[in-house]
Amino acid sequence: MNEQVPEDKTLDNTVALMREGYLFIRNRIEEYQSDIFETHVLGQKVICMGGSEAAKLFYDTDKFQRQGAVLKRIQKTLFGVNAIQTTDGRVHHHRKQVFLSLMTPFHQKRLAELVMNQWIESSKKWVNLDKIVLFEEAKKTLCRVACHWAGVKLHESEVKERADDFISMVYALGAVGPQHWKGRMARNRAENWIQSMIEDVRKGTEKVEEDSALYTMATYQDEEGNKFDPHMAAIELINVIRPIVAISTFITFTALALKDHPEYKEILKSGNPQDLDMFIQEVRRYYPFAPFLGAKVKKDFIWKDCAFKEGMLVFLDIYGTNHDPRLWDNPNEFHPERFKDRNVGPFDFIPQGGGDPSTGHRCPGEGTTIEVMKASLDFLVNKIEFDIPAQDLSFSLVKIPTLPESGFVMQNISLKV
Ligand code: HEM
Repeated sequence: MNEQVPEDKTLDNTVALMREGYLFIRNRIEEYQSDIFETHVLGQKVICMGGSEAAKLFYDTDKFQRQGAVLKRIQKTLFGVNAIQTTDGRVHHHRKQVFLSLMTPFHQKRLAELVMNQWIESSKKWVNLDKIVLFEEAKKTLCRVACHWAGVKLHESEVKERADDFISMVYALGAVGPQHWKGRMARNRAENWIQSMIEDVRKGTEKVEEDSALYTMATYQDEEGNKFDPHMAAIELINVIRPIVAISTFITFTALALKDHPEYKEILKSGNPQDLDMFIQEVRRYYPFAPFLGAKVKKDFIWKDCAFKEGMLVFLDIYGTNHDPRLWDNPNEFHPERFKDRNVGPFDFIPQGGGDPSTGHRCPGEGTTIEVMKASLDFLVNKIEFDIPAQDLSFSLVKIPTLPESGFVMQNISLKV
C-alpha cells in the first residue's frame, strides 16, 4: 500500500476514463496536486503519472518494459500482434534501427516533396467541386504518397478503401463495439494485402527498389540473423505506412488552427521555414492525438514515495504533459511563438513519445511528421485559396483519438499559381 501516494478510491475507473478521455489523468493530477496517483482500470491496479520528471522515469528501460503492457485488442487493431511497440531490449533495439533507417532526413524531405506534389495535383480537381472535406482528402493524399514511397503498388481505384482501412486501425484505439471491429477487419485486410506483396518480393516476382520500405522489411534479418515471417514483415511495414496516413489528423487540426488564428496567415505567407516550424510544433502540442502510453514495471523500485511493484501497469500522460502549466505558460492557449527560443528537452514536449528514439520507444517518424505537416501548411497558406462554410468544427476531448466533427469542409477552392 502506498500511503503517501493519492489513490483514487473508486473501485474501478474504466468508465471514468471513457468519460473523461484525454483529461482523465490531468484532472486527477490537478485534483490531488500530485504528479502520480493510483487507480484501477479494467480491473487492475494502475499507476498514472504526468509531467517531465515522470516522462524521464517512464523511459528508463531498467525500470519499465513494454512486453505485456499493450492490450491484445489494441495489438489486433492499431499496432499488429507482437509488433515493435511490444518488444524490449535487444529485439527492440535491432528492429528500431530499421525504422530509423527508413525515416532519415533524406526520406523525410522526399516524403514532404511527394506530399506537396500530390496536394497540388489533387487541388486541380477540387476547383471543379462544390466542396471537399480536408480530412478525407488528406487520408487519400497520404495513402498514395506513403505507398508510392514504400514501393507498395496501389491502384487509383483502391486508394479510398486502403486509406480508410489505415485510418480505421487508428480510430479503433479507444473504441468498443462496431468501431473496434471495423479496425480489426481493416487490419486483417491490410495484413493480407501487404503480406502477399512481401511474399512476391521474396519470390522475385515483384521487383522493387532496394532502398524502399517494402524491400527493407521483406529482407530484414533480426538480431539472430532470422528473417521475419511474412506476416510479421507485413505488420512492421504497416507500422510505417499507417502512421504516415494518420498524419491527416494533425493536418486537419492545422487547418483548424489557421482558421481560428488567422493572424498567422500573413506571417506564414513568407514561407519562412522557422515560422512554419513553430506553427506546426504548436499544433502538435496543443491539439489532442496520442492520449497516454502504457508500460509494465520490470522490477520493484520506489519513486516519490510510491512503490512500483514488478508487473504493475503504469500510464504516462502525453496530452497532460503537453499542457502542464509548469512546462508551458498558458498551456490552453495556442501560441506558436512559445517555440521561438525554446530549447525543447527530450521529456517536456512529448506528442510522439519522449527520450531518444534510437535507444527507446520514442516515435521514429517525428521528423517525417514535422516535414509532412510543414509542406501541408505551406500548401494551405500559399498554394490555394478557399472559403470555410459554416460547419461543426468542435472536437471532443472524450473520444480517443479525436477530430474536428466536420473533418474541415472547404469551398470555392482556387489555385494561387
Ligand atoms: C511510436 C505518435 C507518426 C512510426 C509512437 C508513439 C507515439 C507516436 C505516441 C509511442 C512512443 C512510445 O511508445 O514511447 C505518433 C503520432 C504521429 C506519428 C502522433 C503523427 C501522426 C509516425 C510516423 C511513423 C511512425 C510518420 C513512420 C515511421 C512509429 C513507430 C513507433 C511509433 C514504428 C514504435 C516505436 C517503438 O516502439 O520503438 N508514435 N507517431 N509514427 N511511431 Fe509514431
